[in-house]
Amino acid sequence: MRIAMIGTGYVGLVSGACFSEFGVTVTCVDKDVSKIDRLNRGEIPIYEPGLDKLVENNAKAGRLFFTTDLKAAVAEADAVFIAVGTPSRRGDGHADLSYVYAAAKEIAEALDGHTVVVTKSTVPVGTGREVEKIIRETRPNADFDIVSNPEFLREGSAIGDFMRPDRVVIGARTERAREVMRALYRPLYLIETPIVFTSVETSELIKYAANTFLAAKITFINEIADLCEKLGADVHDVAKGIGLDGRIGKKFLHPGPGYGGSCFPKDTLALVRTAQEAGAPLRIIETVVDINDKRKRAMADKVIAACGGSVAGKTLAILGVTFKPNTDDMRDSPSLDIIPALQQAGASLRAFDPEGMHEAEKLLPGVVWCDTAYETMGGADALVIITEWNQFRALDLKRVKTLLKAPILVDLRNIYEPEMMANAGFQYTCVGRVS
Ligand code: UGA
Repeated sequence: MRIAMIGTGYVGLVSGACFSEFGVTVTCVDKDVSKIDRLNRGEIPIYEPGLDKLVENNAKAGRLFFTTDLKAAVAEADAVFIAVGTPSRRGDGHADLSYVYAAAKEIAEALDGHTVVVTKSTVPVGTGREVEKIIRETRPNADFDIVSNPEFLREGSAIGDFMRPDRVVIGARTERAREVMRALYRPLYLIETPIVFTSVETSELIKYAANTFLAAKITFINEIADLCEKLGADVHDVAKGIGLDGRIGKKFLHPGPGYGGSCFPKDTLALVRTAQEAGAPLRIIETVVDINDKRKRAMADKVIAACGGSVAGKTLAILGVTFKPNTDDMRDSPSLDIIPALQQAGASLRAFDPEGMHEAEKLLPGVVWCDTAYETMGGADALVIITEWNQFRALDLKRVKTLLKAPILVDLRNIYEPEMMANAGFQYTCVGRVS
């Protein structure tokens, strides 16, 4: 089998590398010449654990190629995956599909022999049909089938998620297309992964429904956490107590500063708009979006309250700025709201993140970036943990206390135990738990 992966962003690069690991010959295509040059030199443009080795091994084995030549890659492919970006369109919250449609047109011009054209990017319901129309209009006699095959990868554990997924969803109209998709995912049949075959439209909706459901689950526990603080209850015990009910499930019940990243904020907003326009508004998700937006500002207020009601003229040490650990991704990270709000309230900030600082420097002006976690703390009035990188879970608390001017720690990810922190002499504030 031979495939072309159009777009070497996060989804395209991970999926391309993983398919090549499955034994498929993969050509990854991108318009960005310097990106392709870097990939051909073995440099990986994103931080994703394990991806560098996977790319290196499969490139060496002659199964993984990088090129800007879309035409040649598509012509020889059994399946072409569209994995280009679908950012939020400014103004209306809809996904911007201009890259998807431009790719469809170029693919149409290059098709040669029967080809399955697969949308891998997260696209609104109806996009597959539109891609089909574009290809048909561009090349009326082309022999192709349309498939929707959304990905459910999480940044930071994307390779494991691809290799051992909970399920694979394939929306296809013809048996011929299903056959090609079965062949591509053959190794997953061996580990008995459920493969859900649906219509193209259903598959497109499954992706949004999954992400919005998870965003709602996080938002639910975040609101329960706020209530716990008022009532003196412990949100971790609540999460455990409800999560053991198989109907609820224990995952994605960890409270925090609000969901971020390149997917949940964009997808919740896009589905809200789609539903409104379809005349079936998703009022739950509209509320989720609103709560999550306000939560980030509320987190800055939490820090200010922990500092005695004002941070004016104070220095705060910040640990973690990426939207979650094990990624360098800053997109829609809660830190992008929390940090400016603290600066506006008059605080000076010193921050450290293991992988995100290069990007964060551009997005968060006025922050002093430090080389280590401890370097942020020297003479600071309080320590704030925004992202739960593993290395922040085992800080030398004695050292932290000596470095800080006052032993104030605000832990927006609940990586420490309130009781332990109280015993260590910290004024400790977290989310939904009181000591
Ligand atoms: C998410 C989905 O989990 C993937 O299944 C999906 O494929 C992906 O979006 C996508 O659409 O491409 P990702 O954005 O990488 O993956 O990150 P998650 O691990 O889902 O975390 C999203 C946000 O929710 C983060 O800000 C995280 O800190 C937050 N979160 C997650 C919580 O606050 N609490 C939790 O219990 C879980």
